Amino acid sequence: MKITLRLIFSLIAIVAVVAFIFSLTQARQEEDRLKADLQKRASFVADSLRFSVEPLLLTDGNTSSLQRIVDRFSNRERLVGINIYDIRGNILVSSKEIRAKLEAEPKILSETIQEVERLGTERGSTIKLDDRNLYAYAAPLSTGIKTSHVLTLIYDVNYIHDRVQRLLLNNFFRALIQALLISLTTFIVIFYNVVTPLRKTTDWIKKIRKGEPSRPLNAKEQLLLGPLALEITRMAKSLEAARSAAEEEARLRYSSESRWTPQRLKEFIRMKLEDRPLFVVSNREPYMHIRNGKEIECIVPASGLVTALEPVLNACGGTWIAQGSGNADRETVDKNDRLMVPPEEPKYTLRRVWIDKDQEEGFYSGFSNEGMWPLCHIAHTRPIFRAKDWEAYKAVNKKFAQAIAEELEGVSNPFVLIQDYHFALLPRMVKKLKPEAKIAIFWHIPWPNPESFGICPWRQELLDGMLGADIIGFHTQFHCNNFIESVDRFLESRIDYEHFSINRENHTTLVKPFPISIDCDPTNEGSTQPLLSKSELLKKHNIQAEYLGVGVDRLDYTKGILERFRAIEHLLDNHSGFRGKFTFVELGAPSRTMIPKYKEFIDEIVKETERINLKFKKNNWQPILLLMKHHSHKDIMPFYKAADVCLVTSLHDGMNLVAKEFISARADEKGVLVLSQFTGAARELQDALIVNPYDVVETSQAIKKALEMPESEQIDRMKRMRETVQSNNIYRWAGELVGQLTQLRTESDGKNT
Ligand code: G6P
Repeated sequence: MKITLRLIFSLIAIVAVVAFIFSLTQARQEEDRLKADLQKRASFVADSLRFSVEPLLLTDGNTSSLQRIVDRFSNRERLVGINIYDIRGNILVSSKEIRAKLEAEPKILSETIQEVERLGTERGSTIKLDDRNLYAYAAPLSTGIKTSHVLTLIYDVNYIHDRVQRLLLNNFFRALIQALLISLTTFIVIFYNVVTPLRKTTDWIKKIRKGEPSRPLNAKEQLLLGPLALEITRMAKSLEAARSAAEEEARLRYSSESRWTPQRLKEFIRMKLEDRPLFVVSNREPYMHIRNGKEIECIVPASGLVTALEPVLNACGGTWIAQGSGNADRETVDKNDRLMVPPEEPKYTLRRVWIDKDQEEGFYSGFSNEGMWPLCHIAHTRPIFRAKDWEAYKAVNKKFAQAIAEELEGVSNPFVLIQDYHFALLPRMVKKLKPEAKIAIFWHIPWPNPESFGICPWRQELLDGMLGADIIGFHTQFHCNNFIESVDRFLESRIDYEHFSINRENHTTLVKPFPISIDCDPTNEGSTQPLLSKSELLKKHNIQAEYLGVGVDRLDYTKGILERFRAIEHLLDNHSGFRGKFTFVELGAPSRTMIPKYKEFIDEIVKETERINLKFKKNNWQPILLLMKHHSHKDIMPFYKAADVCLVTSLHDGMNLVAKEFISARADEKGVLVLSQFTGAARELQDALIVNPYDVVETSQAIKKALEMPESEQIDRMKRMRETVQSNNIYRWAGELVGQLTQLRTESDGKNT
């Protein structure tokens, strides 16, 4: 407030000084103008008089005609008197009113008269007579060549003085009003745009400092201070995270638990990698830039791989090499196709690799998603293998190998973590380019048994490509076994079953399970209260329900979404008590829509939703709400937190991180997870209600059990599952994978020593 007042007073002072100087100049200009005007008028009168007077001066002693003329002219506006002096400075004729006064003070005009006589030119000067301000204008008169007489015209100039005073007064009041208005406006603007947001920000920072709960600052409400509020919010968040992490570290040290935290992973990786950067490679990028009219939006794609790896890169830094697939991705990179992410707090480098449309079709839609995806998931969708897709797959793997080589230039003994089924050939390619690189490939999806895998025409090339890695990771031991058996069946190699390693052409690869997970930081998971109530979540869709179920999936045929819907139908058919009471919300992100199977699948989901809804819909209630769009983490969170039950019914799934995210969100320790036995997660989350998704009756019974489960049992189960997810978090996954990789002595290490 003090600063505001100081600012306003300074403003008033500055405006007043400027206005004063301006008024003074204006008054002076006005005075000069009036005087010039008067002089012009006097000169004009003098000229007229000269014309009548000069002939009369020749007739000596005849002053009566002169007096008449003088008297006639004397009544002009503001003219006080007219005088004619002779060469000696004596008054020859004069207006009656002024003669006596001038004779009383002869000196007052003598100097002017002498000057006019001497120079023969006109002169004007201000004089004071009887306390009156007068203007005397003297002009030479001549009867021959030389000046013989001087004519003086005396004007009253008090009116000039009055007018200048009035002008100054008017300007003063105008300046005063202006200064007040400017100050008032400044005060209002400063108060609403600066003082109020500043006060809010200060109160908010105080709360954060004291560790009190507070709603994040809204950048829009903070008006002028918006950008500052955004930065402060980020800083406060980091501060809060650092404080929570420190508290958590202290707690863990005290309770001698060995939980992995971002800080622990960071330290661990720094120690193990000795400051060498980490390189992660995947097809899907962690941030996609999408053009939305004039705006560019940055979204996090729906991908379990991204959910898992993003916190690792955030904690350790490094470079993530991925395909640039957003339509504004090229506009947001530098000349080396790089950018720093996350956008709000950059921590690592994203290097984008561009793939042209033809190659993309064969590589991504074709071989990766019509071939490898159904090959690895036993979901009864036939894989399609096309020779041209295989060529594109090889070409894109090569392109990525070149991009990796560019990134690795000058880096000795790098660590490269390759992700997923898009890059089975990449480990061998990178190993050839950089033999001393330590390479791991992590397979995020299941690995089928040798019979299933054997149908792939390029099974040997795929296995050989993967065996270029030093470590091959799967989610479960079962998938490791399937892989080793596949190698045993199709490739010449030496398998060591004791250590689960494969030796081919003098290179050893370790095959190990690393069950992937999520961040699940108990200090960072938010309140135990729902963000929005069930009715608030359903109200905008015009639905009222007592129980809420949630499913979060990419719309993929492996996710068992149709089976889930049929289980809900079965529940409502057989337990009519849930009609009008239970609504299931499917948050489905359209995925891989250029592939016919996926398009058909979406149509089928829409039809099935409509069929079931039509069968049971009543008044303000319907059993299924299908929200088909890309949902951000922020959109999904309120549903996780409010749901009574979360349904994960994949027909086959490497891990399924939705199950773990639901558990992580339930800080209130309530809610029930119904989980397919065919997910990797089912091996860890034994307290979920485990179902066979193909068995509609079993799944519907599990939903019923979940909705009727006593709160105490929900808490018991959720507590145990939360402990599991919290201790087997993504930092442990990354720590164990990198730890294993650094422990390995590769063949090139041998050569170096
Ligand atoms: C699975 C795969 C990931 C992939 C994700 C999303 O989780 O393991 O590699 O990123 O699906 O699929 P998309 O084709 O959109 O990348």
